[in-house]
Amino acid sequence: MAQYDLRSNEPLPPISCTGPRLQPFKDRNRKIEFLDILSHLEDETSTSPQRHGAYVFKVIINRKIYALKIFKFFDLEFAQQSIGVTWRKRVSGEKLTFHSDPFFAECRAYGRIKEAEEKHAKRSQSKGTGQTKRPTAKELAVPCYGYMAVAADPYEEILAEKYGITFWNRSIENKKHPVKKRLPFRALVKRFENTEISIKEPKTMLEDLKKLRGSLVFQRDIIERNYKNGLLVDFDNAWTEPHWRVDLMGPRQSRITKNSDLYAFDEMIESSGILTQVRATPNDLYVRKLRSHRRDDSNQSGSDSGS
Ligand SMILES: Nc1ncnc2c1ncn2[C@@H]1O[C@H](COP(=O)(O)OP(=O)(O)OP(=O)(O)O)[C@@H](O)[C@H]1O
Ligand SMILES: [Mg+2]
Repeated sequence: MAQYDLRSNEPLPPISCTGPRLQPFKDRNRKIEFLDILSHLEDETSTSPQRHGAYVFKVIINRKIYALKIFKFFDLEFAQQSIGVTWRKRVSGEKLTFHSDPFFAECRAYGRIKEAEEKHAKRSQSKGTGQTKRPTAKELAVPCYGYMAVAADPYEEILAEKYGITFWNRSIENKKHPVKKRLPFRALVKRFENTEISIKEPKTMLEDLKKLRGSLVFQRDIIERNYKNGLLVDFDNAWTEPHWRVDLMGPRQSRITKNSDLYAFDEMIESSGILTQVRATPNDLYVRKLRSHRRDDSNQSGSDSGS
């Protein structure tokens, strides 16, 4: 089992996992007041751990409004089953957890995004004239302020009563405990985006997506509802390199898989009905090629587990 301590003040995933990490949220010990649910629960038709890795809420913590994404528990055995025997033999349980558990996938992606934003801010500062000016970071995604533990007691009951949420994919072992002794939930605190708008300024959206890819974050779920105000909000399916799956793929397969985000971007813009010249992929022929490769890819290797 992968070891980590949600209550320590250390970034996650732990240092044993190579790659970016996310800081704890500064007000993690404050009370949470739940105002609303932001997830689309109507899609929640089954209790499969694969369906929605998390629930997202509008909350108040220390007098400020945030979006709080609370994750279900990760079932390593289930994940190992889902990736199939070929991959299972080649990836450790620890790596699979820290790279493919939606909570850690998002921690790693946001850790890298922060590094990329800081690099970008420094570069634009050195190009500018004023040395005294604080660097302003260009946001590449809806900001995440860190991770926190959400205690089972009292929040499990509050969420059941308020929103009817009872499914957290807890292990049978963990369910046996009285609520007070149950493992806390893992959560990410993000800026609350008070808007119905998903797509905005496709040119900037594409530039951001390319910057993310340049920083080796492959979001892998480019759809309209994962954008708010033109910024990506959901990274729980992301591959942030180094990533076990990329390491085990051949270079050709990995290139094709990663490029599917670009193809998905074009499809998203097209189906949104927004008229724009902006394209992520060069032409239709290329898109068709990617589409057929994507099918091949998923047939060959099965789906990435737990994400
Ligand atoms: N920071 C935010 N501000 C406002 N709304 C948000 C925010 N984060 C998420 N949401 C809303 O909650 C929904 C679910 O968020 P998110 O995509 O992160 O969770 P998810 O579990 O991956 O859900 P899904 O499977 O629907 O993609 C989003 O589609 C969006 O409508
Ligand atoms: Mg989403």
